[in-house]
Amino acid sequence: MKRTRSIAILTGGGDCPGTNAVIRAVAKKAIIQFGMEVIGIEDGYEGLIHRRWRKLHYEDVSGILTEGGTILGTSNKSDPYRYAVGEGKKLQFSDVSKTVIANFKKLGVECLVCIGGDGTLFVSNKFHKEGVPIVAVPKTIDNDLRGTDVTFGFDTAVSIATEAIDRVHTTAQSHHRVMIVEVMGRTAGWIALYSGVAGGGDIILIPEIPYNIESVARKVKDRNRMGKRFSIVVVSEGAKPIGGEVVVRQVVKNSPEQVRLGGISFVLGHQIEQVTGIETRQVVLGHLQRGGTPTPTDRVLATCLGTKAVELIEAGQFGYMAAVKGRDITAVPIEEAAKGPRNVPAEHPLITSARSVGTCFGD
Ligand code: F6P
Repeated sequence: MKRTRSIAILTGGGDCPGTNAVIRAVAKKAIIQFGMEVIGIEDGYEGLIHRRWRKLHYEDVSGILTEGGTILGTSNKSDPYRYAVGEGKKLQFSDVSKTVIANFKKLGVECLVCIGGDGTLFVSNKFHKEGVPIVAVPKTIDNDLRGTDVTFGFDTAVSIATEAIDRVHTTAQSHHRVMIVEVMGRTAGWIALYSGVAGGGDIILIPEIPYNIESVARKVKDRNRMGKRFSIVVVSEGAKPIGGEVVVRQVVKNSPEQVRLGGISFVLGHQIEQVTGIETRQVVLGHLQRGGTPTPTDRVLATCLGTKAVELIEAGQFGYMAAVKGRDITAVPIEEAAKGPRNVPAEHPLITSARSVGTCFGD
């Protein structure tokens, strides 16, 4: 008797609008087109360590296209090669990768679909090298993954940030203030750059271009002289002054990537007030950028990437990730994405364009 084919899906790292749309696309195509059985692993690699998984029926993945978050749960703390156990002084790390491989074998599926950011894909690449058949889908609001031009979730984060910038515009105008909007992105300035341009930010500060407070203040004062008695600053959480350091919000000791950034807008606001004498306020958008329903662009992208992942399984292209290159959905080795963050090039056309309409990058 012919055995039913089966695959497993996991979602790892920070959640991201569009993740459910990928789960839906992978599972629906696998069920409808190939009659496969689909297993959902809970909370990223955590589920493969502790054997937490469940069968995903067609009904489980129907109606989730527009839902934020991930129905499978996720974790940005479960690197099986350096798995944290205990807390405080009792915190210890151990290698439980063999447990993951053994549990994966017990599952008896032909492939593991990993939907994740650089941390999850770094780990997935290691498992692939140890013989686990994996295909991947890149996921992050930060848009900082190598191997793909764009990630799903980014467009949603940019839309949310742009709406926030639009909203602070009116209050900045009424009170003749400087308003700072702090956006996420870790060490990459993609969200700040795109939302800053879309929202008409006067000053955009990104990690890739360390800023000089005098340049920022000069721009604010110049605008005042021109009769624009308010300014909008869009700052990436990873921005830093020339020769200075990033602002750390939190250190999460049991996470592979321990540093959480945040709070630069308060430092910057204080500096702007001191140098210009103009009242300044700040808004930290934080996890609002990761929550809620994905934009139509992200739903489409997630669907294309999810269905591509199933094509890769069919073609036996394990160790590959569905990716965007220009207008094409293609495949690249997962290794590419595991090579570290993709930052904004200093000569990015959008930066050049923004400079030409008078946007200040603080340099
Ligand atoms: O990578 C996505 C992201 O939202 C970053 O932009 C941000 O720095 C980080 O995750 C926040 O992580 P956490 O959810 O653990 O606070």
